[in-house]
Amino acid sequence: MLSGCAGRVCHVLVLVLCLSAAEDFDWTKNDRGSFYYGTFPTGFSWGAGSSAYQTEGAWDKDGKGLSIWDVFSHKKGKVFLNDTGDYACEGYYKLKDDISLLKELNLNHYRFSISWPRVIPTGIRSDHVNEKGIKYYDTLIDQLLENKITPIVTLYHWDLPQVLQEKYGGWQNISMVNYFNDFASLCFERFGNRVKHWITFNNPWSVAVEGYETGEHAPGLKLRGTGAYRAAHHIIKAHAKVWHTYDNQWRNKQNGVVGISLSGDWGEPVDITNLKDIEAAERYVQFYLGWFATPVFHGDYPQVMKDFVGRKSAQQGLGTSRLPTFSSQEKSYIKGTCDFLGVGHFTTRYITQKTYPPGRGSTYFADRDLAELVDPRWPDPGSEWLYSVPWGFRRLLNFVKTQYGNPMIYITENGVSEKMKCTELCDDWRIQYYKDYINEMLKAIRDGVNVKGYTAWSLLDKFEWDEGFSERFGLYYVDFKNKNKPRYPKASVQFYKRIINFNGFPNLREVENWKRKATETCSSSNQLLAADPLTSHMEMVTEIVVPTVCTLCILISAVFLMFLLSRRN
Ligand code: NOJ
Repeated sequence: MLSGCAGRVCHVLVLVLCLSAAEDFDWTKNDRGSFYYGTFPTGFSWGAGSSAYQTEGAWDKDGKGLSIWDVFSHKKGKVFLNDTGDYACEGYYKLKDDISLLKELNLNHYRFSISWPRVIPTGIRSDHVNEKGIKYYDTLIDQLLENKITPIVTLYHWDLPQVLQEKYGGWQNISMVNYFNDFASLCFERFGNRVKHWITFNNPWSVAVEGYETGEHAPGLKLRGTGAYRAAHHIIKAHAKVWHTYDNQWRNKQNGVVGISLSGDWGEPVDITNLKDIEAAERYVQFYLGWFATPVFHGDYPQVMKDFVGRKSAQQGLGTSRLPTFSSQEKSYIKGTCDFLGVGHFTTRYITQKTYPPGRGSTYFADRDLAELVDPRWPDPGSEWLYSVPWGFRRLLNFVKTQYGNPMIYITENGVSEKMKCTELCDDWRIQYYKDYINEMLKAIRDGVNVKGYTAWSLLDKFEWDEGFSERFGLYYVDFKNKNKPRYPKASVQFYKRIINFNGFPNLREVENWKRKATETCSSSNQLLAADPLTSHMEMVTEIVVPTVCTLCILISAVFLMFLLSRRN
């Protein structure tokens, strides 16, 4: 009798233990701690990133088709100062130079994206495959490997072939799933013998919300309240299909991994003792990263999204929710399609509850019933939206750990831009940002978060979407006014390099020393750059002024000669 009872107690205990193994994120404890000196696990991978449209240029060269960003940026008024990515960093022609920058940094990996219309000009594989485009990526991959740099390849960093947008409405249309799968299969087929890390989508939140809801990004559609949800639905299905294709057809032969890269700002409750604030902050994160992460890890949208969008849709008199639903077959097909999670993270917001009345038009933003706030003391060295809040990074990583069963994580983007309009290579604020954010990542790893690699965003200054070239995220400064687009190292190059070489942070004295040394070396390059207007001026003299003067001289001499001849007659 006693033993039977003890057995039951044991059983209950085991059950309780099992249930509590699915951890809960603790919203009420934000232990910030001080700077942590220590090292990253052996084999931790350090990298830097880029994307095709932002850096390659060569927008219409060697058989490349148009992307939605080519078309969008060529329309007046869409991008700051009407900048375009036509030339960008001319990365297409400067492969060797850029690889030497990666080597200079001593990086383990390089994250870049493949431009879909460069390899399949119309987006439809059966139409035509552009071998010149394939060759470009072949060379890039080969050269990386020759230099012992692992390629991490993104298949979709926002440059949808324009034909697919025009013919089908882009990500509003379910047919994208198969076209994207055909493109991905081509990449596995042609590059998969050498590429072992694949990212299907980069930051689908942005594609959905900024591309199809607010229209700030290509293709510039403003389908408020429905466009983003529909685009996201198709993107998630496309991601899952590509993961299964790899799993069924390539994994055995190629032994790689396929993940997705999600961006997520952190949302911290304004008051961590107030349940309403905590719920609002959780909604913020679920509507952001959770929107995509929950389906790929658990098979469906976050419950809170289904509840909120469903309720608001009903209040608006709609028969069904504006948030599409997955069938049960789809749910099991999508669940578990993530070998690793890519996390792109830049900033944090304070969040509080705010109710949006249903009548005032439906939007993704109103569906969340919350308000975003910032602390005026947070440094904001770069883009308007980018406040430096390092502790938010550790919070986000711990949230991912608890929600999705401690998945393998690669940080696919983290970095800061600069407001500075004049040239400045001594970027001490970027050094500070990297130092503090990388340190919070180290703390998260000590918390047990499974982070395998870190990608500084970005290697170069580049085309920053609707902000054009006005926001510079690069470790290397690019002189866009010069047609050769020369690159110059900012001070942060030296600092990041030391973190990499030490695989962490040794002690206060050393790290302060790194900072000092890094800022010392940048001033001489600053002077070099200051001389650049002179170089451009010289170029103008040799390329425009000299030929024009010569032509004029020849013309004048000819006229003069004719005049002399006519007088002799
Ligand atoms: C995320 C995007 O993926 C990337 O292309 C962009 O440069 C950064 N955000 C900074 O805005």
